[in-house]
Amino acid sequence: MSTCRSQICNPKLGLDDWIDPKVTLSIRQEMQKMILDNETLKVISALLLDNIERGLKKDTHPKSIVKCFPTYVQDLPDGTEKGKFLALDLGGTNFRVLLVELDGTNCNIESKIFAVPLDIMTGPGERLFDHIAECLAQFAFEQGVMDIRLPLGFTWSFPLIQKGLTVGIAERWTKGFSCSGVIGNDVVQLLNEAIARRGDIKIDVCAILNDTTGTLMSCAYRNPDTRVGLILGTGTNGCYVEKQKNAEMFDEPDMGSGNVIINMEMGAFGDDGCLDFIRTDIDLAVDAQCINAGRQLHEKLISGMYLGEMVRYYILKFINRGLLFGGKGADLFSKQESFSTKEMTQVEMDSPGSYKIIREILTKIGLTDVSDEDCINVRFICECVSRRAAHLAAVVLVTVMHKMGEKRVVVGIDGSVYKYHPHVRRYMIQKIRELLDPSIKFDLMLSEDGSGIGAALVAAVAARKRREMQ
Ligand code: GLC
Repeated sequence: MSTCRSQICNPKLGLDDWIDPKVTLSIRQEMQKMILDNETLKVISALLLDNIERGLKKDTHPKSIVKCFPTYVQDLPDGTEKGKFLALDLGGTNFRVLLVELDGTNCNIESKIFAVPLDIMTGPGERLFDHIAECLAQFAFEQGVMDIRLPLGFTWSFPLIQKGLTVGIAERWTKGFSCSGVIGNDVVQLLNEAIARRGDIKIDVCAILNDTTGTLMSCAYRNPDTRVGLILGTGTNGCYVEKQKNAEMFDEPDMGSGNVIINMEMGAFGDDGCLDFIRTDIDLAVDAQCINAGRQLHEKLISGMYLGEMVRYYILKFINRGLLFGGKGADLFSKQESFSTKEMTQVEMDSPGSYKIIREILTKIGLTDVSDEDCINVRFICECVSRRAAHLAAVVLVTVMHKMGEKRVVVGIDGSVYKYHPHVRRYMIQKIRELLDPSIKFDLMLSEDGSGIGAALVAAVAARKRREMQ
């Protein structure tokens, strides 16, 4: 092609048609490691499958990295679930309390968001649970349900060893939390104790669950083909419906469905070094500054808590090499979190050829002299980061769908990265199509408030099952 510019024709760099030909060659070269080809993605899929198998099996579970915790949720909603439920949702940047009313076909939700201040996220566990109980009491008072003993579902979006539907031992903290006195304890009991300390609210904790399970359940309520739940938000994780006979850590009698939802906790994938071959110097830098350095390495390649930081490090690196903004502005990007995942999302909202939003964002950050070329390069950096995240998430879904062997699978998905990024869904679908056995039909379904409705549904399905067994 006579008009082809040297950088796209460079055989070492490949011919990716999504890359703007005006991207600076050295930036293009440096970012190459962020662009994973399908062969690499297939290797990652095989590694993940092996990790999942090890998590499921009794012999290998103790040393496994991807823990594959059984959730004790064996039945999906059948659409007859009814009633009023309270739900708690802890695990992201905010804590939420919800009142969910299911009427068999629809659900009505009232909810309130409360911040979890940094000192509570990292302080004594007792303070965290007192805070939760206080928010719950305030909400119950406002909703006029203070004196009613409502069933409650508790969405706990951290690794949890479940011993039953209402017993969950906190295994470790992720996503910037590190409260003392929680790990190794039953979080339902910690919640009940905090409520008892107040003495002004009545609740009946009917279920403790992970946000991935809530997401799967909320989508299954609307589409019975849902078999997988995925979160691409502050953190990243997935769950799926596994045959009970394969879930060796689930020592319970078969209650009929023959299945159990497995919370993979695959954010930890790679913590044994098996993903080091794709990690870049920037991934290492992002990890090194975290309170859980060396852990949750797969999550740190994908989720909202880290993507903005990745972009920031790349921008800083290219400023220091004189490749962006004429080598000026390093001070604006040197502070941790001075570029957010939200800003990365916005950068990618400009239509091709337009630099309006990018320029606005860069100007807001404090840069004064931004050229079109700077805008093109910054967008390219963001695209590399978000595409890699989406492709790694696609690999998770492909792996699990191949493992389940179902011919039709709906995946319920929630989380800010999936919901708000303008292209992540498209990137995922495209990559799944390239990698998935074509005889499997799939659909990605946005979960409407999975952590809230899902918590109510797990509690409601448990109540229905109890009735059926009596
Ligand atoms: C982290 C948590 C996991 C949760 C995910 C998404 O990976 O460990 O439990 O599901 O974030 O919120």
